[in-house]
Amino acid sequence: MGERLIIGMFGFGVVGQGLYDIIKTKKLNLEIKKFVIKNAAKKRTLPADLFTTDAEEILSDTEINTVVELIDNADAAFEITKRALKSGKNVVSANKKMIALHLEELTQIQQEYGTALLYEGAVCGSIPIIRNLEEYYDNELLYAITGIFNGSSNYILSKIFNENKPYEEALKQAQELGFAESDPTLDVGGFDAKYKLAIVASHAYGIYVNPDDILNIGIDKLGYQDIRFAKEKGLKIKLLPLAKEINQHQVVLYVLPRLIDADNMLFNVENENNGVLVKAAFADEQFFYGKGAGGHPTGSAVLSDIAALRYGYRYEYKKHIEASQIAYSNDYNLQVYFRYEHENTLNQLKFNQITERFYGSDFHYVIGEINLQEILDKKDIIDQTGNFIAEIF
Ligand code: HSE
Repeated sequence: MGERLIIGMFGFGVVGQGLYDIIKTKKLNLEIKKFVIKNAAKKRTLPADLFTTDAEEILSDTEINTVVELIDNADAAFEITKRALKSGKNVVSANKKMIALHLEELTQIQQEYGTALLYEGAVCGSIPIIRNLEEYYDNELLYAITGIFNGSSNYILSKIFNENKPYEEALKQAQELGFAESDPTLDVGGFDAKYKLAIVASHAYGIYVNPDDILNIGIDKLGYQDIRFAKEKGLKIKLLPLAKEINQHQVVLYVLPRLIDADNMLFNVENENNGVLVKAAFADEQFFYGKGAGGHPTGSAVLSDIAALRYGYRYEYKKHIEASQIAYSNDYNLQVYFRYEHENTLNQLKFNQITERFYGSDFHYVIGEINLQEILDKKDIIDQTGNFIAEIF
């Protein structure tokens, strides 16, 4: 039946409640002993003595052998996770920012203290991608991993494209439904997708990449002209992170909006659903689809990690140990559509080649090839209000 888990849980928000709803319907060999919450005054559905605002009530309780960390604040989450792992407690977390920023250190702590940190719920909600990359694709050569990793921005794009909803209204709905981050800039600016990409790339290629070094441009500058352009060509705009091997020793990582056609599996991934496309040498293309945000879908991934801990499951990070020759690069050429407001903006960018130019009264764009490093270097110019960039094939 596996080890009995005595759980201390940090956070009782959308995911925490979703997880609790699932747990209470099941007969599992576990007990949630304490919840640490921020706001003691908030009315709760569970007995008051289960809640505390004092983290020590979990961290110093030697009976608690498992910490479930579901709070918003990445810095506080990191401190909790470190303390717990170092004191012999296993941790399940859904905090993508915390994990992406500190994965290397957290891996070392797990190895040093013999404890386990699992985080399936941090990436693409209910889709089991981390464990698949760790186990199933253990010996597969992975050419590329891409997909829709952020439910909120996909929800917004679906509402805009399919229902002609204004951007602000769609964003408000995503917030009301509990999909969006407390700071929705993380969703629409591509930061959330970037954190998830860094974690995915780490388990795919055995590399640690600082998310600050990865390009992310989101959908917050999307304009009606871009939507019209896409619709006229039968395309959709999706926010896609990409990890791709460009040769045997280098991978590129970035998050950009992309214009995709109906042949792309991601074309019909709508609303808060996520999709992960894995292109492998032998398995060829595989597609994972499911809900990427929300209490119950994310709660189900967290529960799967909790259940795995009962049987001693841990990530072995085998690729990290073996794959030290793979490096991260930004030297990669992309085909982009770039709408710009001022001619001066275009003049500041070094395109390798411009294949199409349009100069209308309310709409100027170019399509051409540009290097990823150039986009990174000029991100502040490219991502200004009045401009919009998207990868195009
Ligand atoms: N804000 C995130 C999203 C929540 O919209 O995908 C799930 O990680």
